[in-house]
Amino acid sequence: MAAVLGGKRLFSGIQPSGMVHLGNYEGAIRNWVSLQSGHESLFCIVDWHALTQRHDPEGFRERVLDLAAWILAAGIDPDRSVLFVQSDVPEHLELAWYFATVCPMGELQRQTQFKDKSQHDPDNVNAALFTYPVLQAADILLYRAEVVPVGEDQVQHLELSREVARRWNARYGDFFPEPRPVLTPAKRILGLDGGAKMSKSKGNGIALAETPGEVWAKLRVAKTDERRQRRSDPGVPEDCNIYSLHGIYTPDPRRDELGRLCREAGIGCLDCKKVLAENLEAAVGPVRERHAAWKADGQRLGEVLGDGAARARALAAGTVAEVRSRMGIRGGPLGGGA
Ligand code: TYM
Repeated sequence: MAAVLGGKRLFSGIQPSGMVHLGNYEGAIRNWVSLQSGHESLFCIVDWHALTQRHDPEGFRERVLDLAAWILAAGIDPDRSVLFVQSDVPEHLELAWYFATVCPMGELQRQTQFKDKSQHDPDNVNAALFTYPVLQAADILLYRAEVVPVGEDQVQHLELSREVARRWNARYGDFFPEPRPVLTPAKRILGLDGGAKMSKSKGNGIALAETPGEVWAKLRVAKTDERRQRRSDPGVPEDCNIYSLHGIYTPDPRRDELGRLCREAGIGCLDCKKVLAENLEAAVGPVRERHAAWKADGQRLGEVLGDGAARARALAAGTVAEVRSRMGIRGGPLGGGA
């Protein structure tokens, strides 16, 4: 087992549904990588959460492994951080049940993600989708984590996690910390339609796996500032999603210059997109290569996840034993009755 670093405990998760896109990467995973050195970090592939949306068992295990390879390729160091799969640690579900007993229905009804996902797929509004944030609170608090790097869309879920911690502590005595979200500057990346947030389910994103050719096919038709119908029309770069992506991939002074050219109609949107495509590839290409290397070493990937699960389980067992004891539930972490 690798040495555990000091610092506050950090936890974050990602669903193995769909492809990892730039929103996931820039909005969350980049922060995972930069924060891992100063924290005792756990990163979790939340496969149980993914079941709340339409689910195809075919290939699901492979998607979990693929996602693990992306996380490692992004720079998560398995000797430093714990990378594991949620369903390898059954205590997540046990703690979620205890938390459900203190979580107010009204708070769950207010969750915008529940409302959005219900609207997106009205024939699949299931009870697990409703209680999704309770499992998320359990994910974090099972490790008594305080620092949670996420994108902006998860902030409301984090508020609920804090509320659950407060209510449980009030009833059973202080034990859980109140976790707080940590956001990147790219906390809400928009999709290429320029309207909604980039998301796996909306198909409006660029996946890390996409080749430069595939990325260009999408960028070419991506929405820009609507004022620019012709090349000679001056634009407002601050209203252009392509320009905001330059904010991530094109350093100043080049980005500044692009902004000026857009305002003066000195560059066409297509040329501006070409610069973005190049810089994007320079940033993401190496990640794609490392991902391919991880995928080629299935044995090592399996070992990393196995080791991660063992380290996570050791921590989870301690929390659940304490929770059981305080709640007057029989048995230790493995369920044996004393
Ligand atoms: P998920 O799988 O939807 O997304 C993973 C991470 O990516 C961030 N993200 C974005 N950031 C910026 N712009 C975007 N367009 C964008 N799209 C996604 C998300 O905010 C997230 O940080 N409920 C979580 C998974 C989860 C979790 C947890 C997270 C389960 N348990 C405990 C933190 C802690 C989710 O669905 O993430």
